[in-house]
Amino acid sequence: MTYRSGLTAICVAVMVIGLFAWVASAQDKGDTAGAVTIRPFKPVQPMKALMLGHKKLFGEIRESIIDEKWDDAATSSWILAEMANVNSHQRDIPKYQQFADHLSQQASELAKALEKKDGAKARQFAGEIGKSCKDCHDQYRKD
Ligand code: HEC
Repeated sequence: MTYRSGLTAICVAVMVIGLFAWVASAQDKGDTAGAVTIRPFKPVQPMKALMLGHKKLFGEIRESIIDEKWDDAATSSWILAEMANVNSHQRDIPKYQQFADHLSQQASELAKALEKKDGAKARQFAGEIGKSCKDCHDQYRKD
């Protein structure tokens, strides 16, 4: 190997290592870094469908509890928790966000009780969720 080709090989090696380091650091900063939301939230539709979804899910949950269909009720409850989370992005008002977050937490607790087939706790949580819907509506629902 000549001196010149040796130098070229070293340069190429340094470039390759540099490229790998750059790719690795780009992946570290990737767009799925934990729970960080990169894109701003943009609702599909203002409020109506989201609220009719809340109503539909809550209805399904209550019926499934009566019928002791715990798995169905748990699935609907997890979706309600997620929809309440989505709702927290609908208004840039801390109090509104608290109401929505509270509902999301309650629905998560309900889902966990349902996964344990704990009917008594599930009925209690479902009653509390009904109050949370009303608390927010009393302040923020105009009609
Ligand atoms: C954090 C606040 C908040 C929570 C919690 C909340 N809602 Fe609402 N809801 C609203 C607001 C605001 C409106 C009025 C939306 C509009 O018309 O702009 C509304 C409207 C509604 C409507 C009427 C939809 C229509 O236009 O026909 C229904 C039904 C409804 N909510 C059901 C529920 C149910 C069921 C729950 C609980 C499981 C719930 N909501 C929890 C804020 C909330």
